Amino acid sequence: MSKYQQLSEQIKQQIQAGIWHVGEKLPSLRKQAAYSGLSVMTVLQAYQLLESQGWIVSQSRSGYRVAPHAELDDNKPDSAIHPAESVDINDYIFDVLQASRSPGMASYGHAYVDPLLAPRHQVNRSLTTAVRFMSIHSVVDNLPPGNAQLRHLIAQRYAAQGMQVSPDEIVITAGGLDALNLSLRAVTQPGDWVAVESPAFYGALQALENRGLKAMAIRTHPTEGIDLDALERALQTHPVRACWLMSNHQNPLGYSLSDAKKARLAELVKRYQVYLIEDDVYGELYDGEHKPHPTKAFDNSGHVLHCSSFSKTLVDAFRLGWVAAGDQAQKLQKLQLMSTVTTSVPIQLAVAHYLHNRNYEHHLKQLRRTLAERKKATYQFLNAHLPQGVNVINSQGGYFLWITLPKDSDTTALYHLALKHHISIAPGNMFATHAQFAHCFRLNASYPLDHAHKNALATLCNLIAQHIQTLVKR
Ligand SMILES: Cc1ncc(COP(=O)(O)O)c(C=O)c1O
Repeated sequence: MSKYQQLSEQIKQQIQAGIWHVGEKLPSLRKQAAYSGLSVMTVLQAYQLLESQGWIVSQSRSGYRVAPHAELDDNKPDSAIHPAESVDINDYIFDVLQASRSPGMASYGHAYVDPLLAPRHQVNRSLTTAVRFMSIHSVVDNLPPGNAQLRHLIAQRYAAQGMQVSPDEIVITAGGLDALNLSLRAVTQPGDWVAVESPAFYGALQALENRGLKAMAIRTHPTEGIDLDALERALQTHPVRACWLMSNHQNPLGYSLSDAKKARLAELVKRYQVYLIEDDVYGELYDGEHKPHPTKAFDNSGHVLHCSSFSKTLVDAFRLGWVAAGDQAQKLQKLQLMSTVTTSVPIQLAVAHYLHNRNYEHHLKQLRRTLAERKKATYQFLNAHLPQGVNVINSQGGYFLWITLPKDSDTTALYHLALKHHISIAPGNMFATHAQFAHCFRLNASYPLDHAHKNALATLCNLIAQHIQTLVKR
């Protein structure tokens, strides 16, 4: 099969698997060429083939869309919105994460970056120095909102992106998840509706479960991101209090929203007077020349609480994050005083010392380059070894690949099978309140494609092939 025929087959399978819905726009020729590593001409040939077979239609000046009869099961009026009155996912996630922890595991299931990529020696030296010079008044000095120098340095990083965020609105937290949870507590009451992506980061679903919130899962496209028309319908029809969303390198799909979508999202939360809790823990891990803006950059009404951390970029074990919380900053500090009191002082001082004295930008540049190379190599390896009917979604930046198997597959079963071979994956059911992603899984592609990982990935591909065979026989 030639390359354009292979690509057209892949897109056909994606339409059948519900990744592309009727009427939805396919990526432009240029974008598809970038995702697939093929030339624009080859992509054009693939699109023309699909068009001649009736799968897609071309529309003057607006590219190609999925043809009306091509989709299988998604023409109900609001299949784009999945309300769940309660969330019950914590036990499942706990079991999956616990089982993935044994030593010797090829850990493609968790979300942490390969720990060997952290600048450990420099960070450790900063920690030693910080502890040596820590004042006896340090706890009081670093109470919420947190260490002044660190907040200042974070504000300067926003400024470098053209954003005006005052150190006074920044609250230092014990990691990104703490930042997100505090924000959620600040802007919701138990029983409220919160809009999330579908699929969403499981930490968001756990947080909703923990606080007794209702989840409004909004259809989210694997490469284009959340369906903002569906979000707007949800805001019109339900008393949604907050949205917990990612704009850059979404977990688990990997996409980043376009600036136009970020601007519209900021406008929507302003118009409907809801808060956006923006999870941007992967924002620094872009692949390209320019750092993508968060949605916060488009916010002129103070409705966006921007949460991030150093866990994915510097060192995961430090558990240090922050919220740029605008006028909610005081409320967050009060909530913090009622829970953790303050973020670990030596860790705050160590990161402030590192940012001030070391070359964080240089480290980030290297990290981004390495991750981009590793993800590309893993993607290519998987594409060469996976059986027909399996698609790998590879967005620009970050380090996740989202893998879709044929619709009736069960990646929880695959996950249990893979564990027996000391391989962990993150099954699709971790990322949704409904079982609509049971045929998908997320793979952490931050590891080098060395001999051991090639073996583990080849085994995983074989297990997937076996799994698909069992479906055929049923
Ligand atoms: C999307 C997303 N948000 C937040 C977090 C939590 O970040 P932290 O480890 O800084 O608490 C994670 C960690 O996996 C994540 O993937």
